[in-house]
Amino acid sequence: MNNSLPTTIVIFGASGDLTQRKLIPSLFSLYRKDRLPEKFKILGFAGSKYNDESFRQHLREGLDKFASFEFDETKWQAFAKNIHYQSGDYQEPGAFQTFHDFLRKWEDGPANRLFYMAIPPHLFPSVIEKLGATGQTEENAGWRRVVIEKPFGTDLASAKALNEEVHRTLQESQIYRIDHYLGKETVQNILMFRFANTIFEPLWNRNYIDHVQITVAEEVGVGHRAGYYDGVGVLRDMFQNHLMQLLTLTAMEPPASFNANALRNEKVKVLSSIEPIRGEAVAYNTVRGQYKGYCDEPEVAENSTTATFAVVRFLIDNWRWQGVPFYLRSGKNLADKCTQVIIQFKQPPHQMFPIESGTRMTPNALVLFLQPDEGMHLRFEAKVPDTVAKMRSVDMEFHYADEFGPMSIPEAYERLLLDALQGDAALFTRADEVEMAWSLIDPILTNWETDQDPPLALYEPGTWGPDEASALLAKDGRHWMHEEAGHMLET
Ligand code: BG6
Repeated sequence: MNNSLPTTIVIFGASGDLTQRKLIPSLFSLYRKDRLPEKFKILGFAGSKYNDESFRQHLREGLDKFASFEFDETKWQAFAKNIHYQSGDYQEPGAFQTFHDFLRKWEDGPANRLFYMAIPPHLFPSVIEKLGATGQTEENAGWRRVVIEKPFGTDLASAKALNEEVHRTLQESQIYRIDHYLGKETVQNILMFRFANTIFEPLWNRNYIDHVQITVAEEVGVGHRAGYYDGVGVLRDMFQNHLMQLLTLTAMEPPASFNANALRNEKVKVLSSIEPIRGEAVAYNTVRGQYKGYCDEPEVAENSTTATFAVVRFLIDNWRWQGVPFYLRSGKNLADKCTQVIIQFKQPPHQMFPIESGTRMTPNALVLFLQPDEGMHLRFEAKVPDTVAKMRSVDMEFHYADEFGPMSIPEAYERLLLDALQGDAALFTRADEVEMAWSLIDPILTNWETDQDPPLALYEPGTWGPDEASALLAKDGRHWMHEEAGHMLET
């Protein structure tokens, strides 16, 4: 497909938060770096009443608030003149024809189009259908691609139905289902770390690894998003997408190449090796929590049983991971904001040092700090000087900020928008992958929501969740870890 043609980016839901916070700052950053196509236009479409000028002003204010790079007025003026706005009704086919006609006039010949669905999910099918009906998804000379925001479905059945609906208009190769975690540098770096180095891969299996902990903790509560969050909860909001992506990247086999299909095939293979947790096993393998005070948040239903915290213990039934639990944990209103993957290695097989009876040596751990203070720590034992055989855990550390500079990490959306413009779907979720992830979350949701099993465990804001979270690991003789300022803490 021709990438040198003029390219139009149409953002549906252009007056919303995502456009102002993430999409425009990312597109402008790409423009500053000369990474956008030479001829491009951005058309914002939404219900709100803006004109080109007021829309540009609204986006300009967003840059002040949300961009992580220095603002350049001259560059902004050059960029902003490519931005247009059209208000319209998503239910109105005429509105789609109007902007199609406007774009055709501007494009004046063959052009590429990227449609970005930053709209409420219930609108995805009808907007895509109207694009198709107005002839905007046919790839004659230029390409046509559609980026679909999360959530992609609310359970397995709705995700399947949504896949069917969008496939009526689009080929799978035109669909880019976004998960912004895959746009994070440190998440992509899991692949580089594992498959561009030889020293860890031989250890990356059940022979050396005791278990894996994946934590995505947030300090904030639901805040202004309560209207969306209530009834959705942490499993749909964080597990089905972000945490499952972290699990697959950590556990997958090496793909044959760094290409979208090879990569996604391996991710699907891992997901299909996970034993779904059903029925009675749900109470044993999961924790369902809610922070105290959640039901008093504006827009949250009184007596809501929506979970704001969860732990899930998955087992991967394959040669590499047999018997190695993957403990996944995420929640709102926790003690810290951090995303960490901790690979906990096994105890040394033989204890030759004279350590206090009843104690054990501390096993090695590799901590992938995905955010904040992006980097990696490898914990190992060292002899304390001036003792006979006393040992202490020490860390070998790598920090992105030290190696690449404090501003080296771009916004996740920047990478993903660029990849979508260049037709690289490696960091987007394929139809079978999204369904496979739902098939693992669905049976847990059924138990939680239909049977209220396990019961909802309340936790104090600012802690690491309910006691049940520690109890789940304690059943396996393990405990949660959290590394902070070079110290591995139990949580
Ligand atoms: C979003 C969730 O997908 O990810 C939010 O809907 C969550 O609830 C956010 O806060 C976390 O993203 P990040 O990049 O801040 O870890």
